[in-house]
Amino acid sequence: MSLQRIDKILSTQNIATRSETKTLAKKGLIKVNGITVRKSDEKFDPEKAVITINGIELEYKRHLYIMMNKPSGVLSASRDKKDKTVIDLLPVNMRREGLFPAGRLDKDTEGFILITDDGELAHRILSPKSHVYKLYEVICDKELTENDACLFSKGITMGEISFLPAEMKLTGKNSALVEICEGKFHQIKKMFQSIGAEVTYLKRLRIGELFLDKSLSLGEYRELENEEINMILSRKHGI
Ligand code: URA
Repeated sequence: MSLQRIDKILSTQNIATRSETKTLAKKGLIKVNGITVRKSDEKFDPEKAVITINGIELEYKRHLYIMMNKPSGVLSASRDKKDKTVIDLLPVNMRREGLFPAGRLDKDTEGFILITDDGELAHRILSPKSHVYKLYEVICDKELTENDACLFSKGITMGEISFLPAEMKLTGKNSALVEICEGKFHQIKKMFQSIGAEVTYLKRLRIGELFLDKSLSLGEYRELENEEINMILSRKHGI
């Protein structure tokens, strides 16, 4: 990785603002590879340097990847004047600059939302070319039939909009699991509208091959492991 100013490294890692870094440096509290850094504009490779602040080693992370179980009533946006967003649910020490939800869930949808500051990964997940499948649990106000599943499997056209073939597996009279590989606006709700049903409950359970961690209650989150990030980009699918 390229060299970066120590004040930039500490601010992007949410450790200290630039002015706080200046003060820390003046007080001799920052060490890099065992040597005290007195100037906040000194440059280092953050992936190689051992940086300590007041004796505590910095665990440098180029990007953050957070799985959240989004509750209903919260927006999948970075900020909003009126409503609470998924970023607002994170503790202050996790709220790094540049974090955003990679993909949208409606305000009333629950489940797996990925929050990251890795724009490249988000682009790969969201690009229709990537064919990252997402699995949803759906409850609706109509009795579902195998014929509905068959219609979904052929792809749906509603006026100007068309949706690629999707898999639906009935799980109860009014409930199903549905897997789609696109992320069009209100996609699941619109697909159900096309079969005369209104969605009354929607939850995202899986992105790629990675399931929402069942131990996360609504509003809870955790960082992803490296292998989990790779699972998100998997093209494997099927319910
Ligand atoms: N489809 C929808 O209609 N809403 C969501 O939140 C996600 C998929």
